[in-house]
Amino acid sequence: MTMKAIVCKEFGSIDNLVFEKNERAPLGSTQVRIAIHVASLGFMDILMARGLYQLKPPLPYTPGSCGAGEIIEVGDSVSNFKAGDRVSFLNYHGAYAEEIVTEAVTAIQIPDAMDFEQAATYRLTYSPSWYALVERAALKSGETLVITGAAGGVGMAAIRLGKLLGARVIAAVGSEAKVQAVRANGADEVINYGVENFRDRVKELTGGKGADVILDVIGGDIFDQCIRCVNMWGRIIVMGFASGRIPTVPMNLPLLKNASIVGVFFGGWGMGKDHEGIRRLNAKLLELAATGQIKAHVSHRFPLDQTVKAMHTLLGREAIGKIILTAR
Ligand SMILES: NC(=O)c1ccc[n+]([C@@H]2O[C@H](COP(=O)([O-])OP(=O)(O)OC[C@H]3O[C@@H](n4cnc5c(N)ncnc54)[C@H](OP(=O)(O)O)[C@@H]3O)[C@@H](O)[C@H]2O)c1
Repeated sequence: MTMKAIVCKEFGSIDNLVFEKNERAPLGSTQVRIAIHVASLGFMDILMARGLYQLKPPLPYTPGSCGAGEIIEVGDSVSNFKAGDRVSFLNYHGAYAEEIVTEAVTAIQIPDAMDFEQAATYRLTYSPSWYALVERAALKSGETLVITGAAGGVGMAAIRLGKLLGARVIAAVGSEAKVQAVRANGADEVINYGVENFRDRVKELTGGKGADVILDVIGGDIFDQCIRCVNMWGRIIVMGFASGRIPTVPMNLPLLKNASIVGVFFGGWGMGKDHEGIRRLNAKLLELAATGQIKAHVSHRFPLDQTVKAMHTLLGREAIGKIILTAR
C-alpha cells in the first residue's frame, strides 16, 4: 500500500521538495502507525531540509517534526495505545505525510476536547517555551522577561507562559502587524525593533537595569544587543538563530553582570530519554490547555501538497504564531 508524503531527496533548496506517493513503512514491535490529520511547520524542519540542522537523516526522507492524528495500528509490544486513539507526536522527521510510523513513546494521548490543530501545535511552541523558562532559566514571579521574535510560534507561547508565571512580559517584534498581535496576546510592553533600538528600549522599560530573563530566538545582531541589556544576575536563553547568524559573546559582559547564558535544546531533552519528565511536562500543559489558560495561535493553514509555499511564508516572516499543514 502507498501513502502520500513530502519527500526530500537532496539537502539544499526547499523548492526541491516533492509531494509524491511513498511505500508505507513497516511497523516495528515498539511502534505505532498514525493517520496524520495536521502537522505543524517549524523552523527546524526547514533547516533540516536545507542540510543545516545538527541532525541529517539518511536520504530520501520526509520532513516534519510534529503532528497529530489517529492511531491506526500498534506494534506487538505496545500496550498503552490502541487503534482509534487520538494523539500528538514529536519526531525529528516524517510528519509531512498522510501517515507516520513512530516509536510509541513519542506519542501522547490528547483529551477529547482538544482539536488536532492545537495538539499538533503546542508541542513545539509551549513545550520548548516551558522547558526554557521554567526548567532552564527558573523564571520567577515579578521578574521582567523579554522575548525576541515574540510573534513567532515559540514567542507567542512564551508570552502566555511568562504571564502565567507572574512575570512582566516585554515582547519584541519586527513589524507593526506583529505589535498588535503580541499586545492582543497579553504582552505588557512591546518593542518594535524594526523601527526602535532594541537595547535602548529594554533599558528604558526596565528603569536602566535591563531584563532579568531574555528569551532569544533570533541570534545575530539582536543577540549582540541582548548581552548588553540583561540585568545583574540575569539569564539569556539561547533558543534559536532565526536571523541565520550564530552570535559570539565577549565573555567579559556576562562576567561583569554575574549573568548566565543558558542554552536550550528541547529536542535533545523532549525527544530524548527523559520520558518521565516529558510526561510530566505534557500533563501540565494539557491541564493548562483544558482550563483555557493556554492556546496555540495559528495564522496560516495550507494543505499538505502546498508545504513548500507554507515554508516560504514562514521564511518571509509572515507567520504569527504557527503555520499548520492539513493532511486530511
Ligand atoms: N532550542 C530549541 O529547543 C528550540 C525549540 C523550538 C524552536 N527553536 C528555534 O527557535 C527559533 C524560533 O522558532 P519559532 O517556531 O518561534 O519560529 P517562527 O515562528 O518562524 O518565529 C521566528 C521569529 O524570528 C523573527 N526573525 C528575525 N529574523 C528572521 C529571519 N531572518 N527569518 C525568519 N524569522 C526571523 C521573526 O519575527 P520578526 O519578524 O518579528 O522579527 C519570526 O517571527 C527557530 O530558530 C527554531 O529553530 C529552538
